[in-house]
Amino acid sequence: MQQIHIKGGKELEGTINISGAKNSCVALLPAAILSSDKVTIDNIPEISDVYYLEKIINELGGVITKEEDSFKIDCQNIENVAISEEYSSKLRASYYFMGALLGRFHHVEMYFPGGCNIGLRPINLHLEGFKKLGAKVINKGNKYVIDAERLVGTFINLDFASVGATINILLAAVLAEGETIINNAACEPEIVNVASFLTSMGAKIYGAGTSRIKIKGVTKLHGGFTEVIPDRIEAGTYLIMGALIGKKITINNVIPEHLESLTSKLLESGTKLEIYEDKIVVYKNEVKNPISIRSQVFPGFPTDIGQPMGLYMTQLNGFSNYEETIYENRMQYTKYLNLMGAKMMVNGQKLSIIGPTPLKGAYVTATDLRAGATMVLAGLIADGDTYIDEINHILRGYSGIIEKLSNVGANIEIVEI
Ligand code: EPZ
Repeated sequence: MQQIHIKGGKELEGTINISGAKNSCVALLPAAILSSDKVTIDNIPEISDVYYLEKIINELGGVITKEEDSFKIDCQNIENVAISEEYSSKLRASYYFMGALLGRFHHVEMYFPGGCNIGLRPINLHLEGFKKLGAKVINKGNKYVIDAERLVGTFINLDFASVGATINILLAAVLAEGETIINNAACEPEIVNVASFLTSMGAKIYGAGTSRIKIKGVTKLHGGFTEVIPDRIEAGTYLIMGALIGKKITINNVIPEHLESLTSKLLESGTKLEIYEDKIVVYKNEVKNPISIRSQVFPGFPTDIGQPMGLYMTQLNGFSNYEETIYENRMQYTKYLNLMGAKMMVNGQKLSIIGPTPLKGAYVTATDLRAGATMVLAGLIADGDTYIDEINHILRGYSGIIEKLSNVGANIEIVEI
């Protein structure tokens, strides 16, 4: 079994280049199968989620040619076979193949999606959207079978501004007959990335990035191109690291507008930032004002940065508070930080933190992707050795994490035990 071993306490300095966004590319790859021609996607990150999505596309008969981080994908001759559970259970985002296969073939057979254990994570809003477009959804054991004679555009109101449901309905609607409106759509930047890719293939999409998206169905999609946007969650994670233990860390290849809810909180707590057009320089916070945060849909504070931020708050003076409003089970990481010396009190979705508390290295577990990243940051600031197991969670979403952190002076390695 592999573990990440960190010798903590060392100040870090240097530059980290941010990779393409996991939460964009896990939607862009399935979107490629909607095209009856070849498409190109640049800036694909090296993460295990991409490996599994590649396997699914190959299973369907798609051909992927890779040139470094650029994928040329040819899905002209794919067959609509049932996607094997081996791959679809590896990541939640496999569910984007539902919208894409339904859109292109009007038929889907797929196992329930996998993913982190941060909550129930139902897909009712996705399935209701497909039904509104004219599809029939049948649960067959642990499989979904979705069929549609025709897909006809309509008005779809989302009870919650779900990222996944917004994208999945978009994928199913671009080849539907007539006009679809998605009301209360999610506004995350990843949705704009997917919409611009589909538009490059000839789709007619208006308002992506706002809470009301209009899609005018077309009969066919041709070849297209897009570049995966920088990963705002990876960037935010490393910004917090810099604020915790960076002498001077430059986070390169970011879109600062995607991070404003985080950078404003770092500034409010006293962290010094220099924000440029496509990079942010961060210095260790010597002021440490306590703060309060509530996670919200974009452009509010992102739930995916809530866990690293919880660690950051343990190093601020006095009482800080965090409230999670998106998922029901995202606080498991706190027990490991408390084991290391933090003072975090969980009350349902609310977290109260007293700081600053020095942390000591310990044996901890990555309970999910972002909790795992939080354990890495905790190990970097803790005194002594930290060992993290279940690191497969971390490698799903942080491309080249060992190399990136070693390059700024961290004492970090993957060990076999
Ligand atoms: C995406 O998940 C991201 N994952 C998540 O990132 C991110 O936390 C989330 O959006 C919110 O920003 C990917 O893009 C692969 P949602 P998604 O649909 O689409 C409930 C990470 O760490 N809901 O906006 O699943 C759901 O249970 C991951 O990178 C329903 O009830 O998020 C959750 O409580 C974690 N019914 C909330 O909405 C539905 O049909 C947010 O879900 C769909 C969602």
